[in-house]
Amino acid sequence: MVKIVIENMGQKEVTGKAGTSALRLLHENFVDWMHACGGKGRCTTCKMILVRGTDALGLLTDAEKRYRQTGQLGATERLACQAEILGDCTIRTPEEYKLPHQAYTD
Ligand code: FES
Repeated sequence: MVKIVIENMGQKEVTGKAGTSALRLLHENFVDWMHACGGKGRCTTCKMILVRGTDALGLLTDAEKRYRQTGQLGATERLACQAEILGDCTIRTPEEYKLPHQAYTD
């Protein structure tokens, strides 16, 4: 069992099976998270900012490496649909991809 803490959703905690993508884990816990391409690694709208737990995520996928090279994915950012969660971590929703109906604490 792994845990994701979403810092700017009031430290909301979601849990799930290790090896699951962050996006799937969020959805399994009924957290809405933007994912314009449907989780296929073809956009960056599912971007999450990793606050703690760099070692808790799987290696960058090819899609993430591509976005890193083009500067669309920063050093502390991962794509929620691509990143496998292997341990506990803390993330934030980037300002530009906040959903209008979702409550954020900052
Ligand atoms: S939902 Fe488009 S890259 Fe993740």
